[in-house]
Amino acid sequence: MKTKTVISLLVFTALFLWTSCKNEKPRDIVAENFEFAAQQLEYAVLLTEETVNKDTRDSLKKAASPLVSPRTMSNDGSLIMVPARDWTSGFFAGELWYMYEYTKDPKWEELAVRFTSPLESQKLNKGTHDLGFMIFDSFGHGMRLSDKPEYKEINMDAARSLASRYKPNAGIIRSWDHNGQKWDCPVIIDNMMNLELLFWASKESGDTSFYDIAVNHANTTMKNHFREDYGTWHVVDYDTITGEVRNKTTHQGFADESSWTRGEAWALYGYTMTYRETKDEDFLTHARNIVNFIFTHPNLPEDLIPYWDFDAPEIPNEPRDVSAATITASALYELSLYGGEKSAQYKEWADTILKNLTNHYRATLQSDAGFLLLHSTGGKSLNSEIDVPLVYADYYFLEALLRKSKIENNLPLF
Ligand code: GLY
Repeated sequence: MKTKTVISLLVFTALFLWTSCKNEKPRDIVAENFEFAAQQLEYAVLLTEETVNKDTRDSLKKAASPLVSPRTMSNDGSLIMVPARDWTSGFFAGELWYMYEYTKDPKWEELAVRFTSPLESQKLNKGTHDLGFMIFDSFGHGMRLSDKPEYKEINMDAARSLASRYKPNAGIIRSWDHNGQKWDCPVIIDNMMNLELLFWASKESGDTSFYDIAVNHANTTMKNHFREDYGTWHVVDYDTITGEVRNKTTHQGFADESSWTRGEAWALYGYTMTYRETKDEDFLTHARNIVNFIFTHPNLPEDLIPYWDFDAPEIPNEPRDVSAATITASALYELSLYGGEKSAQYKEWADTILKNLTNHYRATLQSDAGFLLLHSTGGKSLNSEIDVPLVYADYYFLEALLRKSKIENNLPLF
């Protein structure tokens, strides 16, 4: 071939490639994932019906605690569902509400109501701190997005139940009642998440005791749950008479002195939300310090999807915890709105997390028990839910995607 012809061919190819790149629509991670979620959650709903029909427990047990919500997947790939009293029971309904918020399609509202209603019994459950997760992530969204005045009272009842666990001498809400031989009054870092229900109840009712309880809990936790580097203990046990700390341990982390990754994520999200509700700069600074701990940690992988514990002994041969990544991404979007020199960086990290989850951690359509994301870890030290899909990873994934979409379209987050 003549040199002139070769050059013309090369120029033509280059021009063709340049034009096609120019015309290529930029990738829309949010739309892409909501399209995927629409198909996958429809499949999940079908699986819940099958799973309930196949429930082999005796009829008394089934009637007393029906299976109401997906939680995870078993080794054989089948769906594991939980009754309403499980701490994760509100997340699936919450995902369906997020689908409704994004698509405005009444089909999702109908499904959301169907998975929200069976949780009502939990509004009077005074045996756990998890009422924010169970009730506010289901009925809370329903109240916000749908015309359901009766949901308000359900949320308010739940707030009263949660507030009943407050121990004034220690200035904290008791998290768990189990393992009484081990702890007197255990408070886990996760408990920060449930304060949002109390902040709402205070605004709604005008009863400032909800607010005071939430702020006291956040302050006491800030004082006792964190090490100098802003790594967090998982469980702090209190003497409810003297208010003294009895001990600091772990339940789901690698060791008492390690930093359990999801605990860091709950802390980051919890203090960011507490700043939103109080405008107290101490909480904002605290949230930023937690981000700093996470993102400067030498054991944080390059793709920003953390291992299950920052101090897990076999890193890099340890399972990841995608749930910690989605909670973190969602919190970072909110934190990016509160100014400061790193706000653009916070959004960039959140965007990177969502991009990497989409490209490398997503479940297979019509498979993986209907979950959206793989590779979460519930409790490795308890030999439970290791490297599996988890419903709360998916819930915070959709929440983070919605937050990204709102920020990029200049819409308010709340
Ligand atoms: N709140 C329980 C957990 O994060 O596993």
